Amino acid sequence: TGLVVAMDGPSGSGKSSVSRGVARALGLRYLDTGAMYRAMTWWMLRQGVDLADPGAIAARCGEPLIVSGTDPDSPAIHVDEVDVAGPIREADVTGSVSVVAAVPEVRARLVARQREIIGAGGIVVEGRDIGTVVCPGAAVKIYLTASAEARALRRSAELAGSTARAQQEAMARRDTLDSTRKADPLSMADGAVELDTTAMRLDEVIAEVLRLVAE
Ligand code: ADP
Ligand code: CDP
Repeated sequence: TGLVVAMDGPSGSGKSSVSRGVARALGLRYLDTGAMYRAMTWWMLRQGVDLADPGAIAARCGEPLIVSGTDPDSPAIHVDEVDVAGPIREADVTGSVSVVAAVPEVRARLVARQREIIGAGGIVVEGRDIGTVVCPGAAVKIYLTASAEARALRRSAELAGSTARAQQEAMARRDTLDSTRKADPLSMADGAVELDTTAMRLDEVIAEVLRLVAE
């Protein structure tokens, strides 16, 4: 069966850029599972579902049809045939996604979709629970980290009009929710290699992952 590379870590650690670079270099597909949780959250907000009520989220999470592309050169995501690649990066979705992702029914549904897409492999998959839950048998598991300061600086450089300080607070809040939730919290998988990218350039991180894949 084909290679699966599992890439987990907190926000801004470099998962998307590294995963896409590795997939491109090896001619593999690429799956952004965070985009699927964001797409679910976008749909819940649009439907006016009360996000303070996990029962309401659980009751509705089977309704949207979330379709993810797997081309590392043009990541695509649609909800009920609407292209949501832009809207899922907006602040309202980012501010609510960890609450929606904490609901076990949401996770069960999206993990099932992710496993269908992974299929026989040949793919780099990024998220929070890929090495622990979605694909514990992945041949290569990477846990990317970087200091909170470095992660916030990277993110604020991407998003116009957000200061590093505001960014760091928002990211810290989301990281705490993601690592303390009951259902499949962010944690390092058995057999994962931890890569601290604080003092590394993107191309160095990609090269290091390619070296681990070749081992
Ligand atoms: P994640 O998917 O973990 O949230 P991203 O891949 O979106 O992280 O990275 C956030 C930003 O940081 C991007 O603009 C990316 O180019 C930049 N970046 C990623 N890795 C590095 C690195 N090692 N050094 C410098 N910048 C990086
Ligand atoms: O890009 P960033 O790292 O900031 O976030 P993302 O990868 O787009 O993920 C958004 C959110 O989805 C995370 O903060 C988690 O709450 C959730 N998520 C998850 O629970 N499990 C995954 N496998 C991927 C994302």
